[in-house]
Amino acid sequence: MTFRGLLICAVAGSVFVAGVAGAYPGGTPSYQTDVAPFCAGCHSSRSVEMLEGSPDRAGKELAERKHVAVVLSGQKGYESLAELDRQMLADQIRALDAASTVSLAAPARVTTGQTFEVRVSVTGGAGPVVGVALVDRPHRWYARPVASAGWQVSAPPQITGPDGQLQTKWLARRPEGEGRNVSYVNVTDVVSDSAAGSWASASIVFTLRAPMLPGQYPLAAVYLYGTEKSSILGYTTNALGWKEPRGGMGGPSGRVLFSDLYAIEVGPPAAPSAAPVAEKQRLEAPTPPITIIE
Ligand code: HEC
Repeated sequence: MTFRGLLICAVAGSVFVAGVAGAYPGGTPSYQTDVAPFCAGCHSSRSVEMLEGSPDRAGKELAERKHVAVVLSGQKGYESLAELDRQMLADQIRALDAASTVSLAAPARVTTGQTFEVRVSVTGGAGPVVGVALVDRPHRWYARPVASAGWQVSAPPQITGPDGQLQTKWLARRPEGEGRNVSYVNVTDVVSDSAAGSWASASIVFTLRAPMLPGQYPLAAVYLYGTEKSSILGYTTNALGWKEPRGGMGGPSGRVLFSDLYAIEVGPPAAPSAAPVAEKQRLEAPTPPITIIE
């Protein structure tokens, strides 16, 4: 490659990193919309089941291989750490992963067109931000935003931050006229400390409207979080005072984790004949005459 070629690459590289700095490590401060987890290509996965269908590629995406092994190797940003520190960072990253969970609470059955709530609870995540979305299946490459499965998000999600307070700032950046009923959120003010073993937690309540056709419909939650900023060994501080993951803005220190897959039964509304006797009598009673008040 010529010198000129190298120079162009270097410039393009720095533009790329600057673009990323405004976005993903740190979450998506500027994007308030649905996401599909394939977007988090740099992140590592926690288990192969979430990458079913391509065994060769799946192995390469796992955190131990894609991230922890690189930390221990002392390459790609980790050169400046002594071997003992690299070992300690690897252990802290593993502890953060073990403490980072996502679970979904949803009704087992609903009726067609019914509006109901589901709660996603998360723990861990390095912070300062974590991302949570509802999707149609727990798969890194094939999951789609939940609306594709027929569930309509019918109200703005309610985010309860690690301090137990409702968070509205991130979502308020989306113009109200566009509708704030999105299936992805950023939870802010997240702080986990993997050396001290203290882990953040947060929850999000999504309001969904069930599809109009009876059947079984899938639902899962995806959790996007970082690991390195939970450890003093895991980041550097740039000239602007921002914490940068030691593995770099394009590094593998992010994670993609899914909840279990739910199959929710959507049934027709109860038939009128099933109404209790009193309700039946009320329905069959003659309509009272209308009095016109002048
Ligand atoms: C260029 C690589 C890259 C891509 C692409 C990427 N991320 Fe990340 N992301 C990272 C890194 C690196 C971290 C981890 C920071 C750490 O370890 O502390 C991260 C962390 C996060 C976090 C947690 C915030 C934080 O600072 O720890 C969220 C939320 C997130 N990413 C969302 C997304 C979403 C949504 C997409 C797709 C739209 C995406 N990411 C795509 C690199 C990427």
